[in-house]
Amino acid sequence: MDKVTIPMISMRGVGKSYGSHQVLHDFSLDVMPGEVVSLIGPSGSGKTTALRCANFLETYQQGEVRIRGALLGYEEGPAGQRQPASERSIAEVRSPLAMVFQQFNLWPHLDVIDNICLPLTVAHRVPRDKAEARAAQALERVGLSAKGKAFPHQLSGGQQQRVGIARALAVKPQAMLLDEPTSALDPELVDEVLSVILSLAADGMTMVMVTHEMGFAARVSDRVVFMEAGRVVESGPPKTLFENPETDRLRAFLKTWRQRNGLSVGTAQQELPA
Ligand SMILES: Nc1ncnc2c1ncn2[C@@H]1O[C@H](COP(=O)(O)OP(=O)(O)OP(=O)(O)O)[C@@H](O)[C@H]1O
Ligand SMILES: [Mg+2]
Repeated sequence: MDKVTIPMISMRGVGKSYGSHQVLHDFSLDVMPGEVVSLIGPSGSGKTTALRCANFLETYQQGEVRIRGALLGYEEGPAGQRQPASERSIAEVRSPLAMVFQQFNLWPHLDVIDNICLPLTVAHRVPRDKAEARAAQALERVGLSAKGKAFPHQLSGGQQQRVGIARALAVKPQAMLLDEPTSALDPELVDEVLSVILSLAADGMTMVMVTHEMGFAARVSDRVVFMEAGRVVESGPPKTLFENPETDRLRAFLKTWRQRNGLSVGTAQQELPA
């Protein structure tokens, strides 16, 4: 019999509102172990919200999010009704995930080692000496072994984001969620971060990444999901989405993107990096 693989992350029919403003509608996404999925779409389409619901940094009201099969954010009662889960249960269910933020979210008053160790010692209860060993290993992985004693303001944006990635890696996640990891960076610093992400993908890390870097999405992703107004409009392998979009909405989105980036509106191939 075939081995049944449970999705690392399964979002089914997720609905999310801020007050009366519904920002996710019936949002579904399954991410299998080892898969790299990119979320693309116009500003305000709900990409960040979808990512934040995937690890319950935001609550959702309809549908369900499961991490390796376990319901995240709610507990199911005997009659199938659900109630909010305890903080402890939420932390446990989301523990296979780590997040990388657009604005790095490093603590400015802590050096690099402490920035990486704090979530380990506090949230994951790793003893300090082991946390430091993991921090050193994670820094090596992103090419920043020499920067452990530096403070965030002493680092370039690209280095700060690599520390953000090291901090996520140090918790030994089974999947990483990345929200526009390069969009706060000067253009010349983007590549050093993208190459770290590419190498994680090559190592088989499961990733869900929100990005405006279409060329990179095409190169790194197994699947691309195009969102608009809180819904999935199209999803599939990058070659299909970028070269043969099915919907006018995705065609229009790609056209705008190419024009903005000074690329010809012709073949999608032209935007793909070598
Ligand atoms: N904390 C919040 N309170 C109220 N509304 C919010 C909040 N966060 C997001 N929204 C709204 O939800 C919608 C989706 O926002 P979201 O940040 O998920 O979009 P996005 O696709 O990530 O956009 P961008 O590409 O600009 O980052 C937007 O209409 C936004 O104004
Ligand atoms: Mg966003």
